[in-house]
Amino acid sequence: MRKILVTGGCGFMGSDFIRYMVETSQVMIVNLDKLTYAGNPENLKSVEQNPNYHFIRGDIADQTAVNETLASLAGQAGIEAVVNFAAESHVDRSIMGAEAFVHTNVLGTQVLLEAARKLGVSRFIQISTDEVYGTLGPEGKISEESPLRPNSPYAATKAAADLICRSYFKTYGFPVIITRSTNNFGPYQFPEKLIPLFVTNALEGKTLPLYGDGLNMREWLFVRDHSRAIERVLEKGTSGEIYNIATGTELTNLEITKAILRVLERDESLIEFVKDRPGHDRRYALDWAKLRRLGWGPQAKFEETLRQTVAWYKESETWWRRVKSGEYLKYYQAQYGKRGFNP
Ligand code: NAD
Ligand code: TYD
Repeated sequence: MRKILVTGGCGFMGSDFIRYMVETSQVMIVNLDKLTYAGNPENLKSVEQNPNYHFIRGDIADQTAVNETLASLAGQAGIEAVVNFAAESHVDRSIMGAEAFVHTNVLGTQVLLEAARKLGVSRFIQISTDEVYGTLGPEGKISEESPLRPNSPYAATKAAADLICRSYFKTYGFPVIITRSTNNFGPYQFPEKLIPLFVTNALEGKTLPLYGDGLNMREWLFVRDHSRAIERVLEKGTSGEIYNIATGTELTNLEITKAILRVLERDESLIEFVKDRPGHDRRYALDWAKLRRLGWGPQAKFEETLRQTVAWYKESETWWRRVKSGEYLKYYQAQYGKRGFNP
């Protein structure tokens, strides 16, 4: 059976990719995740008993752990691909302190690349972000050829990782592909990001802190469409290439906040304009023609999937209350204190 190592699979996007792959393909997924505050094995409850899913707790920047993991997996049928979702992913946290971002996003990516290269892994997908391009004016779209102009410490570490990936392709011919997507949304997103924070705050009767004038623009992608895009790139992508993943659904933060409140039937008086995020990028918008040529396109309708996402948070109050209170950390740190899978 094909075997794929997914890193950071207990987070928001990695867990969607794992659920999608385990449910729809004949593939064995091994998930290497450090279980930081953002990693929650509850996100994978629906597949944890599946024989094609295995979890290993480990840090991608820990050379010994990564080498051991890859070597033990390679001892069997070999790993077809590595998909690196693991990252520190929240801009506001990177502004508070960049060290963990450099550790995981830069060093972690290099350690993983090196171990995979030594083992002769035939495909390595680096999950990157539109934020590496920096901010865009009111018009136009960014192609994969555009220069990297990251503005936050988060974006800078993701850009650094992309450049290390590029060097592994150019120097060693190692088959790396980079994907850069716009803002994802959907179930299981950590409630520090705009949509889940605002939905859960509104459900709790708390205010929704909108940064600055609320007119920064983001392009929104339903997370399942992202997972489908990664599957497509795994199958059809060309080594050394970069693929933007986007939808054309551009909204100001104020528009999306009002849309959330409409779905929840809550009053706009919950909106609270607060001090802006330093270095706050005004707009991201990607040209994804290259990925379209691989046969991918977004299937989700924005209004419908926003409604579904809001409904999921309404139904999953236990999940987000445990996350917001920190309760989930105590239980899973005890349970996964040591490795969960001995291949
Ligand atoms: P997330 O914060 O929800 O999850 C990150 C996961 O990585 C967690 O499970 C965490 O435990 C794990 N992790 C962190 N450090 C690790 C380490 N050193 N070793 C092993 N595991 C570690 O993130 P997400 O929103 O799911 O984002 C996934 C990837 O997609 C990231 O690389 C991010 O940069 C990128 N991305 C995210 C978005 C978005 O809208 N969320 C958009 C574009 C790209
Ligand atoms: P976020 O979800 O943090 O994603 P990113 O910074 O990666 O785009 O933020 C999305 C947008 O929402 C961004 O322009 C910042 C803004 N925002 C707020 O206005 N208030 C908030 O509390 C948060 C978390 C974000």
